[in-house]
Amino acid sequence: MTRVLVGVGVGPGDPELVTVKGIRVLREADVVVVPVADTGEQGRAERVVRVHVDREVRRLVFALADEARRDQAWDTAGAAVAAAYGEGARDVAFATLGDPNVYSTFTYLADTVRGLVPDIEVRTVPGITAMQALAATSGTVLVEGRESLALMPLTAGVDTLRRALDVHDTVVAYKGGRMLARMLAAVRDAGRLADAVYGAALGLPDEDIRAATDIDTGTIAPYLSTLLVTPRRSGRGSRL
Ligand SMILES: C[S@@+](CC[C@H](N)C(=O)[O-])C[C@H]1O[C@@H](n2cnc3c(N)ncnc32)[C@H](O)[C@@H]1O
Repeated sequence: MTRVLVGVGVGPGDPELVTVKGIRVLREADVVVVPVADTGEQGRAERVVRVHVDREVRRLVFALADEARRDQAWDTAGAAVAAAYGEGARDVAFATLGDPNVYSTFTYLADTVRGLVPDIEVRTVPGITAMQALAATSGTVLVEGRESLALMPLTAGVDTLRRALDVHDTVVAYKGGRMLARMLAAVRDAGRLADAVYGAALGLPDEDIRAATDIDTGTIAPYLSTLLVTPRRSGRGSRL
């Protein structure tokens, strides 16, 4: 019997931004698990899942904001998934915000489970990323013609963002909540603040989308916040 672990992307938070395939996989899996994190992601994936799936959902606790406890949390979560196979499950589905192959806890869970269940087959169902949701909701074209797109986490440092702003046309910054002021300073220094849009809690009740020029520099952004910087375009097809 092939045992399968599937990472299902459930989009940024709006229950309507889940794929038909994602819903089917969540409904058909023997066991559905969701992350409960100490990063602001708490319960968000589960909320989306519960709109579509009326069944038991098991919670796995992750400690991404606490490096000391992170490895231990991965081990515990991996062991819980391995135990589900031990109980007879064939398919375990893990619901994750956005896409499971974009900065997702699923990657670490899958690595852990591979070590515990050697014959495991890992699959993913793509989900809509926060970057795409912010582009759509703010009416921003992400890239056109020959433009490049860089996506980075602010945990890689503000200098990484500064370099990307020098080199790339469109730049998207994730995980910048606590560094919002420094992030905006880097965008301003690059002369690109007028072409930046900020989105927090996209698809969630407290969604906040605004031009970067309208953000008070003292604002503390939540963990679920994304900044999108686009290039100046002069007309139809100008970037071809
Ligand atoms: C661990 S990453 C998860 C990315 C996710 N897998 C994706 O595909 O978009 C978390 C970061 O994604 C962004 N993010 C995810 N969901 C978001 C939302 N609903 N609103 C704004 N930003 C979000 C934020 O930058 C946050 O710090």
